[in-house]
Amino acid sequence: MLNIALPKGRLGEKVYAMFARAGFDCPGILEDSRKLVFENPEKQVRYFWVKPSDSAIYVERGAADIGVAGKDILLEYRPDVYELSDLETGKCRMAVAAPKGWRDDGIRTLRVATKFAFIAREYYASQGRDIDVIHLNGSIEIAPILGLSDVIVDIVETGTTLRENDLEVISTITEISARLICNKASFRFKQQEIMRVAEGLKRTKEG
Ligand code: PRP
Repeated sequence: MLNIALPKGRLGEKVYAMFARAGFDCPGILEDSRKLVFENPEKQVRYFWVKPSDSAIYVERGAADIGVAGKDILLEYRPDVYELSDLETGKCRMAVAAPKGWRDDGIRTLRVATKFAFIAREYYASQGRDIDVIHLNGSIEIAPILGLSDVIVDIVETGTTLRENDLEVISTITEISARLICNKASFRFKQQEIMRVAEGLKRTKEG
Protein backbone atom coordinates (compact mmCIF):
# COMPACT_ATOMS: atom_id res chain seq x y z
CA MET A 1 0.00 0.00 0.00
CA LEU A 2 1.33 3.41 -1.00
CA ASN A 3 0.58 6.20 1.49
CA ILE A 4 -0.03 9.54 -0.20
CA ALA A 5 -0.33 12.95 1.52
CA LEU A 6 -2.53 15.38 -0.40
CA PRO A 7 -2.99 19.07 0.48
CA LYS A 8 -6.52 19.82 1.67
CA GLY A 9 -8.48 22.35 -0.37
CA ARG A 10 -8.85 23.45 -3.95
CA LEU A 11 -5.32 22.55 -5.03
CA GLY A 12 -5.62 19.11 -3.42
CA GLU A 13 -8.81 18.35 -5.31
CA LYS A 14 -7.16 19.31 -8.58
CA VAL A 15 -4.15 17.19 -7.76
CA TYR A 16 -6.31 14.22 -6.72
CA ALA A 17 -8.04 14.44 -10.10
CA MET A 18 -4.60 13.98 -11.69
CA PHE A 19 -3.95 10.87 -9.56
CA ALA A 20 -7.40 9.53 -10.52
CA ARG A 21 -6.76 10.11 -14.23
CA ALA A 22 -3.43 8.34 -13.82
CA GLY A 23 -5.38 5.26 -12.66
CA PHE A 24 -5.14 5.71 -8.87
CA ASP A 25 -8.68 6.72 -8.02
CA CYS A 26 -10.24 6.25 -4.61
CA PRO A 27 -14.02 6.06 -4.17
CA GLY A 28 -15.64 8.58 -1.86
CA ILE A 29 -12.59 10.79 -1.45
CA LEU A 30 -14.26 13.89 -2.89
CA GLU A 31 -17.49 13.48 -0.90
CA ASP A 32 -18.21 16.29 1.48
CA SER A 33 -17.21 14.82 4.85
CA ARG A 34 -14.72 15.32 7.68
CA LYS A 35 -13.03 12.02 6.95
CA LEU A 36 -9.29 12.41 6.34
CA VAL A 37 -8.09 8.97 5.25
CA PHE A 38 -9.31 7.09 2.18
CA GLU A 39 -8.01 3.89 0.66
CA ASN A 40 -8.49 1.80 -2.40
CA PRO A 41 -7.04 -1.68 -1.68
CA GLU A 42 -7.52 -2.70 -5.30
CA LYS A 43 -5.23 0.12 -6.48
CA GLN A 44 -2.97 -0.23 -3.44
CA VAL A 45 -3.24 3.45 -2.48
CA ARG A 46 -4.17 5.22 0.76
CA TYR A 47 -4.68 9.00 0.63
CA PHE A 48 -4.69 11.45 3.56
CA TRP A 49 -5.88 15.03 3.40
CA VAL A 50 -3.41 17.18 5.34
CA LYS A 51 -2.84 20.89 5.82
CA PRO A 52 -0.94 22.04 2.69
CA SER A 53 1.99 23.34 4.72
CA ASP A 54 2.28 19.96 6.53
CA SER A 55 2.39 17.49 3.63
CA ALA A 56 6.20 17.69 3.38
CA ILE A 57 6.50 16.80 7.08
CA TYR A 58 4.43 13.61 6.62
CA VAL A 59 6.62 12.64 3.68
CA GLU A 60 9.93 13.57 5.32
CA ARG A 61 9.06 11.49 8.41
CA GLY A 62 7.81 8.54 6.36
CA ALA A 63 4.16 8.71 7.52
CA ALA A 64 3.47 9.14 3.80
CA ASP A 65 5.58 7.57 1.05
CA ILE A 66 4.80 10.33 -1.41
CA GLY A 67 2.87 13.57 -1.34
CA VAL A 68 2.23 16.88 -2.97
CA ALA A 69 3.70 20.12 -1.65
CA GLY A 70 4.04 23.64 -2.99
CA LYS A 71 7.52 24.71 -4.03
CA ASP A 72 7.12 27.59 -1.51
CA ILE A 73 7.01 25.09 1.37
CA LEU A 74 9.98 23.14 -0.02
CA LEU A 75 12.05 26.32 -0.34
CA GLU A 76 11.07 27.61 3.10
CA TYR A 77 11.40 24.45 5.20
CA ARG A 78 13.95 22.46 3.12
CA PRO A 79 12.51 19.04 4.06
CA ASP A 80 14.83 16.09 3.45
CA VAL A 81 12.77 14.51 0.65
CA TYR A 82 13.18 13.79 -3.04
CA GLU A 83 11.38 16.12 -5.41
CA LEU A 84 10.20 13.78 -8.16
CA SER A 85 8.37 16.11 -10.50
CA ASP A 86 6.73 19.45 -11.16
CA LEU A 87 2.98 18.83 -11.41
CA GLU A 88 2.61 22.15 -13.22
CA THR A 89 -0.50 23.09 -11.30
CA GLY A 90 -1.10 25.46 -8.38
CA LYS A 91 1.02 27.99 -10.21
CA CYS A 92 1.76 31.29 -8.51
CA ARG A 93 4.84 33.32 -7.59
CA MET A 94 6.71 34.39 -4.49
CA ALA A 95 7.04 38.14 -4.66
CA VAL A 96 8.01 41.27 -2.78
CA ALA A 97 5.13 43.78 -2.64
CA ALA A 98 4.72 47.23 -1.16
CA PRO A 99 2.18 50.07 -1.07
CA LYS A 100 1.80 51.66 -4.50
CA GLY A 101 4.51 54.24 -5.16
CA TRP A 102 6.71 53.08 -2.26
CA ARG A 103 10.46 53.36 -2.95
CA ASP A 104 13.27 51.71 -1.00
CA ASP A 105 15.73 54.32 0.32
CA GLY A 106 18.33 51.54 0.46
CA ILE A 107 19.62 52.85 3.79
CA ARG A 108 17.36 51.96 6.69
CA THR A 109 16.95 48.31 7.68
CA LEU A 110 14.03 47.07 5.61
CA ARG A 111 11.09 45.72 7.63
CA VAL A 112 9.70 42.66 5.85
CA ALA A 113 6.46 40.97 6.93
CA THR A 114 6.11 37.37 5.79
CA LYS A 115 5.20 33.77 6.49
CA PHE A 116 8.35 32.84 4.56
CA ALA A 117 11.21 34.09 6.74
CA PHE A 118 13.87 31.82 5.25
CA ILE A 119 13.00 32.73 1.66
CA ALA A 120 12.92 36.44 2.54
CA ARG A 121 16.28 36.32 4.35
CA GLU A 122 17.93 34.39 1.54
CA TYR A 123 16.57 36.74 -1.12
CA TYR A 124 17.67 39.93 0.64
CA ALA A 125 21.06 38.41 1.60
CA SER A 126 21.64 37.85 -2.12
CA GLN A 127 20.91 41.55 -2.64
CA GLY A 128 23.18 42.58 0.25
CA ARG A 129 20.23 44.33 1.93
CA ASP A 130 19.73 44.29 5.71
CA ILE A 131 16.26 43.28 6.79
CA ASP A 132 14.20 42.83 9.92
CA VAL A 133 11.81 39.92 9.43
CA ILE A 134 8.37 40.24 11.01
CA HIS A 135 6.91 36.75 11.04
CA LEU A 136 3.14 36.66 10.52
CA ASN A 137 0.83 33.70 9.91
CA GLY A 138 -1.64 35.16 7.42
CA SER A 139 -3.28 38.32 6.05
CA ILE A 140 0.26 39.56 5.44
CA GLU A 141 -1.00 42.33 3.14
CA ILE A 142 -2.24 44.27 6.13
CA ALA A 143 1.26 44.81 7.59
CA PRO A 144 2.46 47.64 5.30
CA ILE A 145 -0.99 49.27 5.39
CA LEU A 146 -0.72 49.62 9.16
CA GLY A 147 2.95 50.61 9.06
CA LEU A 148 4.04 47.35 10.71
CA SER A 149 6.39 46.67 7.80
CA ASP A 150 7.76 48.39 4.69
CA VAL A 151 7.21 45.46 2.34
CA ILE A 152 5.84 41.93 2.34
CA VAL A 153 7.17 38.70 0.89
CA ASP A 154 4.18 36.58 -0.02
CA ILE A 155 2.48 34.41 -2.60
CA VAL A 156 0.75 36.18 -5.47
CA GLU A 157 -1.65 34.14 -7.53
CA THR A 158 -4.22 36.31 -9.31
CA GLY A 159 -2.96 39.58 -7.79
CA THR A 160 -6.44 40.39 -6.46
CA THR A 161 -5.43 40.59 -2.79
CA LEU A 162 -2.63 43.04 -3.61
CA ARG A 163 -4.84 45.15 -5.88
CA GLU A 164 -7.67 45.37 -3.40
CA ASN A 165 -5.26 46.57 -0.72
CA ASP A 166 -3.42 49.14 -2.90
CA LEU A 167 -0.21 47.16 -2.97
CA GLU A 168 1.93 46.27 -5.98
CA VAL A 169 4.61 43.74 -6.82
CA ILE A 170 8.12 45.20 -6.65
CA SER A 171 9.98 42.06 -7.63
CA THR A 172 9.38 38.39 -8.23
CA ILE A 173 11.58 36.09 -6.16
CA THR A 174 10.62 32.80 -7.79
CA GLU A 175 7.87 30.95 -9.63
CA ILE A 176 5.95 28.41 -7.54
CA SER A 177 3.98 25.26 -8.43
CA ALA A 178 2.92 21.96 -6.85
CA ARG A 179 5.60 19.25 -6.69
CA LEU A 180 5.43 15.49 -6.25
CA ILE A 181 7.72 14.60 -3.35
CA CYS A 182 8.92 11.28 -2.00
CA ASN A 183 10.29 9.89 1.26
CA LYS A 184 13.92 8.81 0.78
CA ALA A 185 13.59 5.34 2.39
CA SER A 186 10.30 4.67 0.56
CA PHE A 187 12.04 5.46 -2.70
CA ARG A 188 14.47 2.61 -1.99
CA PHE A 189 11.89 0.09 -0.83
CA LYS A 190 8.84 0.94 -2.93
CA GLN A 191 10.53 2.36 -5.99
CA GLN A 192 8.46 0.41 -8.53
CA GLU A 193 5.10 1.44 -7.06
CA ILE A 194 6.24 5.03 -6.68
CA MET A 195 7.54 5.22 -10.22
CA ARG A 196 4.25 3.79 -11.52
CA VAL A 197 2.42 6.70 -9.90
CA ALA A 198 5.01 9.28 -11.01
CA GLU A 199 4.93 8.01 -14.60
CA GLY A 200 1.13 7.95 -14.58
CA LEU A 201 1.03 11.56 -13.41
CA LYS A 202 3.51 12.53 -16.08
CA ARG A 203 1.29 10.98 -18.75
CA THR A 204 -1.84 12.80 -17.47
CA LYS A 205 0.08 16.08 -17.63
CA GLU A 206 1.08 15.41 -21.21
CA GLY A 207 -2.37 14.12 -22.23
C1 PRP B 1 -2.63 33.65 -0.13
C2 PRP B 1 -1.48 34.66 -0.13
C3 PRP B 1 -2.16 35.94 -0.55
C4 PRP B 1 -3.23 35.45 -1.51
C5 PRP B 1 -2.78 35.66 -2.94
O1 PRP B 1 -3.32 33.80 1.04
O2 PRP B 1 -0.89 34.74 1.17
O3 PRP B 1 -2.74 36.60 0.55
O4 PRP B 1 -3.42 34.05 -1.26
O5 PRP B 1 -3.76 35.30 -3.87
P1 PRP B 1 -4.26 36.29 -5.01
O6 PRP B 1 -3.05 36.89 -5.65
O7 PRP B 1 -5.02 35.40 -5.94
O8 PRP B 1 -5.13 37.32 -4.36
P2 PRP B 1 -4.29 32.72 1.64
O9 PRP B 1 -5.58 32.75 0.92
O10 PRP B 1 -3.58 31.40 1.68
O11 PRP B 1 -4.54 33.28 3.11
P3 PRP B 1 -3.59 33.93 4.20
O12 PRP B 1 -3.91 35.39 4.17
O13 PRP B 1 -4.02 33.28 5.46
O14 PRP B 1 -2.14 33.67 3.86
